This record gives sequence, C-alpha cells and structure tokens, in this order.
Amino acid sequence: MSNPFTQELAWTRRHLPRLHRALTHLPDMSGARLACSMHLDIKMIPLVEGLLAKGAAVFLTTCNPATVQNDTVAHLVAQGVAAEAWRDMPPAALHTAVNHALSWEPTHLCEMGAELTARLHQLPDGPPIRAGLEATGSGINRLGGLTPRYPIFNWDDLPVKEGLHNRHMVGLTAWHTFFQTTRLTLHEKQVLVIGYGLVGQGAAAAARAYGGQVTVAERDPARALLAQYDGWMVRPLAECLPHADVIVTATGAHHIIQAADFTRLRDGVFLLNVGHEADEMDVAALRAYPHETALPFVETFAVNGRTLYLLAGGSMLNLTAGRGDSLNAFDITLAVLAAGIGHIVRAGHQSPPGVHVLPTAVWQAVL
Ligand SMILES: NC(=O)c1ccc[n+]([C@@H]2O[C@H](COP(=O)([O-])OP(=O)(O)OC[C@H]3O[C@@H](n4cnc5c(N)ncnc54)[C@H](O)[C@@H]3O)[C@@H](O)[C@H]2O)c1
Repeated sequence: MSNPFTQELAWTRRHLPRLHRALTHLPDMSGARLACSMHLDIKMIPLVEGLLAKGAAVFLTTCNPATVQNDTVAHLVAQGVAAEAWRDMPPAALHTAVNHALSWEPTHLCEMGAELTARLHQLPDGPPIRAGLEATGSGINRLGGLTPRYPIFNWDDLPVKEGLHNRHMVGLTAWHTFFQTTRLTLHEKQVLVIGYGLVGQGAAAAARAYGGQVTVAERDPARALLAQYDGWMVRPLAECLPHADVIVTATGAHHIIQAADFTRLRDGVFLLNVGHEADEMDVAALRAYPHETALPFVETFAVNGRTLYLLAGGSMLNLTAGRGDSLNAFDITLAVLAAGIGHIVRAGHQSPPGVHVLPTAVWQAVL
C-alpha cells in the first residue's frame, strides 16, 4: 500500500544513482559490526539497506536528536538494524544510547560528531574498534583533543564533502527552510553571518540570493580578510549584533551569542543556527524569558520589551525544520560515505591509530 512515506522513499531511491553504484563495489561485510552516530533521515535508508545486503550488522543512534525522523528509524529496524534514536530524545537517553552502541561491541564506527569515540576514550577498555569514519568539522576538532586508539578516517575535509555540501548546500537549504518556515524572504533585512568557514561562506552567498544585505563576523583574521575579498561587510561581532535583523551562527562553537547579548538585539530579530552545536546561541539563557510558539519551529521570546524569534530551538535549521540537502547533492555525499565504509571494513585497520584523511582513490572511484 502506497503512503507518503513509501512514496518519498521510492522517490529518494530513484534519485541516488551514485550511491547505488558505490554500494555495488562494497566488499562482503559479514562479521562487520558498524555502530553509527548520525543524522537519521529518509536519505540514509538506501545506504543502510545496502550495508545490510552486504552482510553488515548495524546499530544506529543519532548525533542530534532534533534531526531524527522516527519513520526512518522504524523502517530500518524492520529491515534488521538495532537502533536507539528518536526525535527529541533527552540528553540522558542519548547518553544511554551511546553506551548501548558501545556495549553492542561494534568493530567499526561511522560518526558525525565523534560522540562514540569520545565516550569510548573515557572508558579504561572498550570494544576493540578496527577503524572509524568521521564526517564533521566539529567531530574532527573533538578528535584533536584525544589520542585515538584506532585509525579514524576524516571525510569532512574532502573537496566533494566540504566543497559541495558545506559550501553549496547548507546555506541554500537553510534559507529555503527559513522562507518555508517564516513565509519571509531576506529582502530589506540586515543578515549577520557569524563564522566564515565553508558553511558560513555558503550561508552568506545564499542570503544574498534570498535578498539579504550581508555582514560577516569572523574571529580568524585570515578568514575575515577572505570575507572582505568576497565582497562582504566585515565587522567585530559585538559591534554588529545590535544592527542585525537576522543572525545565523555557523561556527561549531558554544555560546557565540551569550546571555547578555540577547538584551542588545533588535526588536523582531530572527535567530538561527546552521553549525553543529545546538547551543551556538545560549538558548538555555534565552529560555528564562517569557516565550511561546508562534509557528512550527518558530518561537517568540519577550526580552526587555522586544520580540526575538528563535528558529528550530537553535538546532541546525536546515536539518531540523527542513529536508537537508537536495537528493542530487546528497547522492555524492552518500556515495563517498559508502566508499568510506567499504574502505574501513576492507583495509582501515592496516593504518596506524590516529586521524587520516580518507584516501583520494577511495572516494574518487565513486564520483
Ligand atoms: N547544518 C548542516 O547541515 C551542516 C553541514 C556541514 C557542517 N555543519 C557544521 O557547521 C559548522 C561550520 O562548518 P565549517 O565547515 O564552516 O567549519 P569551520 O570550522 O571551517 O568554520 C567555522 C568558522 O567559525 C569561526 N568562529 C568560531 N568562533 C567564532 C566566533 N566567536 N566569532 C566569529 N567566528 C567564529 C572560526 O574562526 C571558523 O572560521 C560546523 O559545526 C560543522 O560541523 C553543518
């Protein structure tokens, strides 16, 4: 019986040709136990089904409860994965799920944010992981503070991952989601982009396409210069906060907008985040002010006689309130991810412990 979920799944499968090709090149994965901490939306289904078809056992949990699609998880459980993830699961439940993922005794890890690896490295012993994959800049930064006990392959820094997804998809889909959520475009609005990595660069460029007048705040002087050469107004964060109509954080850092900052913002300002961390703005401090839901994914806060609008609770707007990347763009991401999983299962353990960039030959083969 066809319902909206099965229709969307059929449509999704049809538009992932690179992934399907990449899956055919996977090795026999019998005996591989892959624990995944990742965003769980419908686009992940064809990948996970392909891993199961090759004989892998899979445990799913999430790197961000706000982006979990429960029907995706239910579908994959019916296909035979172990899973402990649901939309908006509280931090304590996620903590438990991460412990369960590790006690499931995985042989390989597939992560977006290094949560499993960080927990494992707090344990005196743990499952003997043969190799892992890390997909995010935030995860790579986190791994920098550890001495990994096994090889971990970084595929965030690949030109086909950051150069396409981070640079071209996040900003575009975030402003698309902004428009769909608020029914507003950015015309006549002063848009402040905080952080000018590839995500911030894409957010700035797409904000202009949606009509915004863009200012960038970036603490790294080289990137601040790059923003100026790209044609943006660049100002210190403290100076531009009171003048923005729309503020987007794209840093991967915590509390970029702090409790005291909320009292300095314009009446009617929109606050949204596309960085990995759900607290790039100090949302907990903002919640001390009177607030209510205005629309799905839009909350109003009354702060000293002014109204502030927070989108998606400060979590990544494009993934929480939107549909994430286009299928054609995400097809590339998924194909590279499949190739990366094939690599860690086939040969990952031959590399020394530590963080390695996923070899070029691995991902170029699936483009
Ligand atoms: N929403 C999504 O779908 C999505 C997709 C890919 C990546 N991300 C996340 O987006 C974030 C940014 O990704 P990126 O690849 O651009 O990372 P990046 O690390 O290259 O860029 C982040 C930038 O933020 C700047 N920054 C940090 N703190 C700042 C501060 N207080 N004031 C001003 N600037 C500050 C840094 O100097 C850096 O230039 C990461 O957390 C990443 O995981 C989100």
